[in-house]
Amino acid sequence: MKRLTITGLTAILLATTMTAQIQLREDNIDEVLKAMTLEEKAQLLVGGGNAGFVGSGAMMGHQEKLVAGAAGITVAIPRLGIPATVLCDGPAGVHIDAKRKGDSQTYYATGFPVGTCLASTWNTELVEQVGQAIGNETLEYGCDVILGPGLNLHRSPLCGRNFEYYSEDPVVTGMIGAAVTKGIQSQGVGVSIKHYAVNSQETARTKVDERVSQRALRELYLKGFEIAVRQSDPWTVMSSYNKVNGTYAQGHKDLLTTILRDEWGFNGIVMTDWINKRGDLPVRQEVEAGNDLMMPGYPAQVKDIIDDVQAGRLDIKEVDRNVRNMLEYIVKTPRFKGYPFTNKPDLKAHAEITRQSSTEGMVLLKNNGCLPLTPSKKRGDSEAPSLLGEGGGRGYTVALFGVNSYDFFSGGLGSGCVNVPYVVDMVTGLKNVGVSTTPLLTEIYQSYVKYARAKLKADKNPMMWFLDQGQPKLDEIEISERCVQHEVKEADAAIVTIGRQAGEGIDRRIDGEFNLSQMEQDMIFRVSDQFHAEGKPVIVIINSGSVMETASWRDRVDAILCAWQPGEEGGNSVADVLTGKTNPSGKLTMTWPIAATDHPSTKNFPQDLDMYSYREMKGWGAGIPNEDYTNHEEDIYVGYRYFDTFQREVAYPFGYGLSYTTFEMKDERLKMKDDCVEVSVTVKNTGSVAGKEVAQVYVSAPKGTIEKPAQELKAFAKTRTLQPGESQTLTMQIAKRDLASFDEAGSQWLAEAGTYTFRVGASSRDIRTTASVKIGAYAEKVHNVMAPKEPLHLLKRS
Ligand code: BGC
Repeated sequence: MKRLTITGLTAILLATTMTAQIQLREDNIDEVLKAMTLEEKAQLLVGGGNAGFVGSGAMMGHQEKLVAGAAGITVAIPRLGIPATVLCDGPAGVHIDAKRKGDSQTYYATGFPVGTCLASTWNTELVEQVGQAIGNETLEYGCDVILGPGLNLHRSPLCGRNFEYYSEDPVVTGMIGAAVTKGIQSQGVGVSIKHYAVNSQETARTKVDERVSQRALRELYLKGFEIAVRQSDPWTVMSSYNKVNGTYAQGHKDLLTTILRDEWGFNGIVMTDWINKRGDLPVRQEVEAGNDLMMPGYPAQVKDIIDDVQAGRLDIKEVDRNVRNMLEYIVKTPRFKGYPFTNKPDLKAHAEITRQSSTEGMVLLKNNGCLPLTPSKKRGDSEAPSLLGEGGGRGYTVALFGVNSYDFFSGGLGSGCVNVPYVVDMVTGLKNVGVSTTPLLTEIYQSYVKYARAKLKADKNPMMWFLDQGQPKLDEIEISERCVQHEVKEADAAIVTIGRQAGEGIDRRIDGEFNLSQMEQDMIFRVSDQFHAEGKPVIVIINSGSVMETASWRDRVDAILCAWQPGEEGGNSVADVLTGKTNPSGKLTMTWPIAATDHPSTKNFPQDLDMYSYREMKGWGAGIPNEDYTNHEEDIYVGYRYFDTFQREVAYPFGYGLSYTTFEMKDERLKMKDDCVEVSVTVKNTGSVAGKEVAQVYVSAPKGTIEKPAQELKAFAKTRTLQPGESQTLTMQIAKRDLASFDEAGSQWLAEAGTYTFRVGASSRDIRTTASVKIGAYAEKVHNVMAPKEPLHLLKRS
């Protein structure tokens, strides 16, 4: 026993002295790997703890918080010149603490538009610029990786984190995700595309088994990740909490290695989403699956790796492979390179980028001619001059209803929030363009918001931790008939802001969240009745990260602008669109259904469950549908793939968005080029003001052996600003491979031979021109992996 101990000690001492000189460089990773002890290797695979988690980092002695409020760190091994690296949250900006103890400097970060708003620009160039600004803040605040973009699909309008994600469509998701990634990584820091994969609900997210067909998995849920990996080479991928077809994503070798690395060629690191050691998922399974980094990191995980290697349960080769990945990641980081970060990014310049990108992401859903706002315009009169003409609209007054006019949401709740220096509310945004608000109503709401914020702080519910991260929703106040009677006399128009808040850990309810509350409905109806009686317009601003019900009330108002959660410049961006300074060009990246239940996924989505009391009643692991498992019975029929194929009415279709001008799309041409179809189309501004338009290419496949949706988006492009009468020809390439469906029987991507129709339009329901071409078959074998363990009753077209 004694002899053994001495031998062990001698070995460690020897290893230490022999390798004392080795310091990590880009070109000596093999040597460093050889010099590492098992303990050091295990530590490098486990994060350095998260201050928010009791007993994690503190026990390991790696708890140093290099950047206050960052989500986590990787462990330093000074003996080998391996620095700790810092991972901060995103995706809408750098999520770190704005204030530090004993430090008078502030560390506010820019609040950029949330994912849905960014994606709604359909402008990959602009999105890349936003990425550059986010990357620059990541770098200048001393972080190495920002945890975003979020590439999960909007399977359901009720998912609490839809605001962080881009779309119900994988091509939009992948292309916007790749653009953000390129932008961020151009600054020398990394992204973490997340949450890989099928993290489409927040309820029971750490245990739910997402049961999904191989086809829907490949074509929808993995596709956005595949595009981002192939096009933008992300440094890291975050594996999600949930199971996919019976196996935790974090321990799923087929997901993390066979598909991600072997098929797509990913060569960065995979880290887990933030979770402790699980009772039912051995750490060694995570290591073997290809999870290089366990976050936030717990001592028990380090110990397990060491014990498992020593007991022969875990092959050291698996550990070494992951350690090598980690070292390859570390040598790329600014921390390793000793970048002298300033803690002073150019917040002013980034605010300008925010304002520009959020105005471009806002979607004008309805306009009966009252927008852009004009000084003398009456309801239904669309010919009056713009507010921005001479005089700048001075003297124009609006009555501003709805709490979120005064407490405007820049972003969502949870890890995806940003500690922003300010949020421009509607009062300020309108004031900045010369529009005033009625004084009494403004004062009442502003006082109420002060009170409600203080009250919320005082009543803090410890279970609602995410309310501390971001701006929680304040209760609306009742707007009486008498109040409206007073306001209608004072104002030229009414603006009603309807705010929705959502975030990590909780899904949205239908009542009062997807739908209007009774109080909101009363407010809209009372305001519109009285303002319309006086010939004055009513405009609704939707300040929400995701979709909501509009069909029951939209006829009562004159215009609806979906402003999303557009970042810190919110009120300014809304004012830019309302006044016509910016002509709206945002398009929906998800269908707005008439009712939430119209989506076939709603049948298999957690609804109105009170997470905590429900669990107490039923207990964990009791086989509760949509908590313990969720069956994706709608299969590939997510979003417009369902509504267009099954010809169901919608409130606003996928791809939809109005402009203050009109566009024509013509001269569509198809050219076969090697393995690609080149689609070109000419877009002409046929209206009277300058604007931008998005050409969306939907493909209808020939009838073959595989069932296909009626049409699928395969490419899109946005014009530059076109002056009235000006045209631009847009050219897009679609690889034959991208026309393929996933054929489960043959484990292959298969595009069947036949005539394909390329339908180019301004939304999935507004096709302007079509052209067809005969294409030969394309087949590409892939691994037969990740099949569901039990049969699913899948929705079929016929
Ligand atoms: C979230 C991730 C986030 C991580 C670190 C998790 O709970 O799901 O999106 O990046 O926490 O804060």
